[in-house]
Order: sequence, then C-alpha cells, then structure tokens
Amino acid sequence: VPAYLDHAATTPLRPAAVEAMLPWLTGRYGNPSGAHAVARAARAAVEEAREDVAAALGCAPAEVVFTSGGTEADNLAVLGVPGPGTVVCSAVEHHAVLEPVAARNGATVGVDGHGRVDLDALPAAVGPGTALVSVQLANNEVGTVQPLADVVALVRERAPGAAVHTDAVQAAPWLDVATLAAGADLVALSGHKLGGPQGVGALVVRRGLRLSPLLRGGGQEAERRSGTHNVAGIVGLAAALREATARRDEVVALVGALRDRLATGLLAAIPGAALTGHTTERVAGSCSLTVEGVESEALLVLLDRAGVCASAASACASGALQRSHVLEAMRVPPSRAAGSLRLSLGWCSSEADVDAALEAVPAAVAQLRRAVA
Ligand SMILES: Cc1ncc(COP(=O)(O)O)c(C=O)c1O
Repeated sequence: VPAYLDHAATTPLRPAAVEAMLPWLTGRYGNPSGAHAVARAARAAVEEAREDVAAALGCAPAEVVFTSGGTEADNLAVLGVPGPGTVVCSAVEHHAVLEPVAARNGATVGVDGHGRVDLDALPAAVGPGTALVSVQLANNEVGTVQPLADVVALVRERAPGAAVHTDAVQAAPWLDVATLAAGADLVALSGHKLGGPQGVGALVVRRGLRLSPLLRGGGQEAERRSGTHNVAGIVGLAAALREATARRDEVVALVGALRDRLATGLLAAIPGAALTGHTTERVAGSCSLTVEGVESEALLVLLDRAGVCASAASACASGALQRSHVLEAMRVPPSRAAGSLRLSLGWCSSEADVDAALEAVPAAVAQLRRAVA
C-alpha cells in the first residue's frame, strides 16, 4: 500500500462514517421530502445528522444547510449574499471562493509571508458599501490558520451590515470551528476532508441572514438549497464530524507529532528545503515546503513511483500544475515556488507513512539534482 500523504486533497472514510452510511446504501432509502413512513424515516436521519453537525459547529440545527460539498457551500455563501454591496476575500482563498468573488467583481486583500491576511490592508477594502467578507479559517496549500476573530471585529466596526463568511473546509479536522468561527455569519464545511464522504458538505447560515439560493426547485433546506437530499452522504458527514470532534485533541497531538518529525527530518536531509506557511499558526496535518532546484511535477512522479502519494502546493482539476496563487500571494519567489511539495497527514496517518516519506523525498530530490548536474 502506498504511503498516503495527501489528506488535504481527500481523506479515507472513517469507519464510523461507513457504518452510519451503509444502511442508507443498502436496505434503507426514502426521499426525506415525502410524507409516508419510509420518507419520514429518511427525514429523521437527515434531521438527526443536522443536529449533530449543529452541535459540532456550535449553531442551531435550523442554521445548517446541507450542500453537495465545500465548493457549493462556498459558492452559496459568496453568491447568495444579496448586493448591491461589494465582496472582498483574502488572496489565499480556495478557488471555490476566489472564482465567485471574481464573478461579483470583488476585491482581494493580500497576506504576509506566512499566508496570514494583512490586517493593515483590510480596513481600506472594507467599508459601509461592503456586502460580504470571506476569509478562510485554514489554508489548503500551506495550512496557515487565519486570525478570523480579528477579521470579524474589523468588519463589524467598519461595515456593520456586511456578512462574514469563512471557508472552514481545511480547518474542520483540526480546529475548534465552533469557537473560532463563532463570529462568522456563514461557515463552509466539506465531508471528504474530515473522514466523511465526497460530494456532501454544509454551510452554516446564521439566523436572520438573507441568502438567495443558487439552486431553485423543490424548496428543500428551508428554500436555501433545493434538491433531493443525499441521505447517505449527510449521515456519513455527520458521523465523521462527530468523531473528528470527539477525538480532535488526541488526533491533533498524534498527527502533530508525526508532522513535526516529518518536517524536521526533511529539512535536515534536504539542503535548500524550506517550510512554507506559518511556523505555529498552522493545522496539525500540514507539511508544506519548497525544494530549491527541483520541479514539483518531476518530484511528484518519482514519489509516486516510490509509493508516496503527495501533491504540490497547487494542482488544477486536469492534474496539470499551475502556479500557486497562495505562494505567489505570500511572495515566495517563483524559482522556489516551482519546487513546492505538499505533504498532508490525516486521522489515520502512521509512523510508517512518515518513514516512507523521509526515505523517498530526499532520495527523489537527490536523483533530480543529479540529473541536472
Ligand atoms: C479550503 C477548501 N475549500 C473548498 C474546497 C472544496 O471542497 P469540495 O471538494 O468538497 O468541493 C476545498 C477542497 O479542496 C478546500 O481545500
């Protein structure tokens, strides 16, 4: 089996999620919008999942909107908040935020060298005419955690009418989202980043916030997201989030120690390697670095052959690597950014995964450097 160090891309399903989903993939079924006994049982499962998600996120069940994933949750937040005001986001957001912000002719605010949003530049971008400010809780490429409470305080002061959205997709496995995002009006989650299934997510929409739907139809989710519920997915998301929350401290300690061993070992073994992201304000599973004099693409091919699944700071859907907008915003020089490597750990990462990477990465780098020498 390969050493899987790409949990920021997707995670294996937690057994608790599988167990919760299995009945809904086999004997049980039903359209939760219906009225008869089979439909009511499906609705009860969705509502129970909603309560679990709400408990984990510190909101009311009625504030949880189930979506088809993180992308839809982010799009619903950014496009759903009514105008005419402007929208603003950080320069290191996921494309699921950047693209809808661009579609609304929004603005981006820069970050420092660690990827933290520039709180001195934010006031100039936020004012009474602002409708929405979107700043993620943790970054998918470098793991940096944003000072969200400071962002919220600043927005409340300068733009009392604006909504604050946070993409908590990468934060949810590691951080207490309920506390850290307590001040946000909209909070996006994705099932498959926390040991749940792909194709399901959630958006917390605080009570009283007006939001126009992206998907119109049967009026599910209190008119905020039409479409027949993905019952198995929703139940799996809730089970995964329940377990991620219950075991968070233990997993953060274990995985954080694995990550530290990996990062320290790689820096010691590879001359010209440097970590990217914040040194302390970053999620436990993230180990992102740049390696001088190598190309990410070639490195990933060698790692794949050596049985190590990793990724670069940025990949697009076609699998081809584009320049990372995150590293660019952090002003990492292009020559360094070209050799970016993202190793990301998760709930089931092991010492053996770290051992495999500590062997394969320095060897692959040495091989590539020999080839150009
Ligand atoms: C920070 C962030 N936001 C949003 C998404 C999109 O989530 P999904 O894959 O569920 O659409 C991702 C996934 O890569 C992500 O890392």
